[in-house]
Amino acid sequence: MIVAANFKTNLTRLETGEYLGELEGMLPKLEGVEVRVFPASSSLVPHKGQAVVGAQNAYPAKSGAFTGEIGLVHLEEFGIETILVGHSERRHVLHESQVDIAKKFDFFKENGFEIIYCIGEPLSVKEQGLDATLAYLQTQLEGIDLSYAKLVVAYEPVWAIGSGLTPTLEEIETIHDALKRIAGVKLLYGGSVKTDNAKAIMELPSVDGVLVGSGALKVENFFSMINDAITIKKG
Ligand code: 13P
Repeated sequence: MIVAANFKTNLTRLETGEYLGELEGMLPKLEGVEVRVFPASSSLVPHKGQAVVGAQNAYPAKSGAFTGEIGLVHLEEFGIETILVGHSERRHVLHESQVDIAKKFDFFKENGFEIIYCIGEPLSVKEQGLDATLAYLQTQLEGIDLSYAKLVVAYEPVWAIGSGLTPTLEEIETIHDALKRIAGVKLLYGGSVKTDNAKAIMELPSVDGVLVGSGALKVENFFSMINDAITIKKG
């Protein structure tokens, strides 16, 4: 089970350092549960512990003339080897195209990163039904090497992110089950995961973990979700 926190544009470097310190102090020895924390780029910190720090985004180049971006050298400085690619906010707010996203995927794959690759449908697509949703999600997998061993897919419906709305457990399981057949990789669910729904979501057979935004900004809440993951045994 993977329990991941995406801080988005929240928590300064100081706050991130305090958060990680507190989290490591709370964590029992983890077996079968992996923890990931994705701070803002300027809050990346060198970190050794059970929680693995990853990048929310980076430009697909070692370094160069890409004003405002960070490159591979900036991640290497902190020993970062895991990255989010294709997050809904990168797609819909920052207008990254599928072609841009696939290039980013290829670059970080070539550099051996664990890639948490995010997909998710907007409400207008969800309203068209399951077939339309699955067809849409498949377009977000175009150009992505699904056989990459360090690929994890996060299913995050756009309408569920930051809205307090979530699909029903049945809907999550149906989509994850279909995605397992298409992609055959570990699958995280994301979108309004909180302390009160994380366990039920992680218990679903086709869910291998959660990617949590606002619900993970308080360390005690993130820790509670990690504890839930620890109690779940899947065959
Ligand atoms: P929220 O948990 O705030 O809905 O965000 C989910 C998300 O986008 C995680 O990547």
